[in-house]
Amino acid sequence: MSQITAYRGEILHFLDDPSVVGVDESYEYFADGLLIIENGLVRELAAYTELASSLSDDVEIIHYENGLIVPGFIDTHVHYPQIEMMASHGEQLLEWLTNYTFPTEMKFSDSAYASEIATFFLNQLLNNGTTTALVFGTVHRQSVDAFFTAAQEKKLRMICGKVLMDRNAPEELLDDVQSAYDDSLSLINKWHGQDRLQYAVTPRFAITSTAQQLAVADRLMKEFPDVYLHTHLSENIKEIEWVRELFPDSKDYLDVYHKHHLTGRRSVFAHGVHLSDDECQCLADTKSSVAFCPSSNLFLGSGLFNLKQAEEFSYAVGLGSDIGAGTSLSMLQIMSEAYKTQQLRGDGLSPFKSFYLATLGGARVLDLENTIGNFKVGNEADFVFLDYHSTPLMQLRLSHCQSLQEKLFALSVLGDDRTVGATHILGESVLQRC
Ligand code: GUN
Ligand code: ZN
Repeated sequence: MSQITAYRGEILHFLDDPSVVGVDESYEYFADGLLIIENGLVRELAAYTELASSLSDDVEIIHYENGLIVPGFIDTHVHYPQIEMMASHGEQLLEWLTNYTFPTEMKFSDSAYASEIATFFLNQLLNNGTTTALVFGTVHRQSVDAFFTAAQEKKLRMICGKVLMDRNAPEELLDDVQSAYDDSLSLINKWHGQDRLQYAVTPRFAITSTAQQLAVADRLMKEFPDVYLHTHLSENIKEIEWVRELFPDSKDYLDVYHKHHLTGRRSVFAHGVHLSDDECQCLADTKSSVAFCPSSNLFLGSGLFNLKQAEEFSYAVGLGSDIGAGTSLSMLQIMSEAYKTQQLRGDGLSPFKSFYLATLGGARVLDLENTIGNFKVGNEADFVFLDYHSTPLMQLRLSHCQSLQEKLFALSVLGDDRTVGATHILGESVLQRC
């Protein structure tokens, strides 16, 4: 029997990229809308007055007032095992990895510990209105088992993978060519395509994988063409210099991955802060995507992502929190940091573009735009309610906003987890703060 629920309120979702089609054509907005959900999927979205009479009397209409219903946020790059080491002080990437990250990740050889942190992390995501994420585990296969087990229990759409890392890290964290293949294979067979879970082959970055191990990633991608490839790219200047030394035959950083056939529609590269035009062209030609992680880039002093360059070359971009280097899991806070990085570049950033990046833009990065990211009929109904009255300050500020643009901007700059009044997964409320 079909189960129908309906949500009334101010509703916004994106249909396309505002930088491509123009702001006015990019979104659909209902000041008083009705979102009808059937068996966890979007059945219809229109103005309340247009749709309400079509509902039978026994369907309860939940009315969210003084706030905005938007699709669940999508975090296109995050490390769940690093949640406990957020705000570790004072280093740039390579020292930060050695001093904080690697010691933390060693703890995930313990399945029970991994399960505890995976559950904690997912609860934090939902608290922040993030309903889908592309997630790094650690080198331990049990870290990924723990993550997928917790995500499956919560019926979440999540993508995760075991880190491949066979050099330039502490001995305890290294795998090898054979175990990288065997462990990834068994995780793919166990989890990929189960409910809403998908697998990402996850070489940490070019520095920690030998060419032989990158060949393993290539082999896995060929054997399973619909799994993802998730790694880091051109985040930090010293990192880039080291990659050049390690792979003298590659013309640039991206070429290391490209030569191993690791670029493609389901390849997501975190950062891409320092990219040449050649690298941008290669991303575009191969339909690869980049996760823009502004909070992390500021925290580690990595640089200011060039969003304009990405738009000029037309490769897909989403937003990533990249915790533990990022300082918040809130995609609203990530939008705020994105705005500030673009201000420092002299480019600015429209709040429409920010909300696009955090929803439909993220879905496109993950090749899931026909599944999540907006309220198109048939899409999975993961959504959040952003509460204009979540704090006295938010309430005061929002009461002075005249336009949708002003409201979105204030929500993104002042918002955080408190702003998320409710989170719904497949239509069902999993977090209710208002
Ligand atoms: N590059 C390689 N590993 C990492 C990581 O864990 N975090 C970030 N920000 N960059 C990386
Ligand atoms: Zn990262």
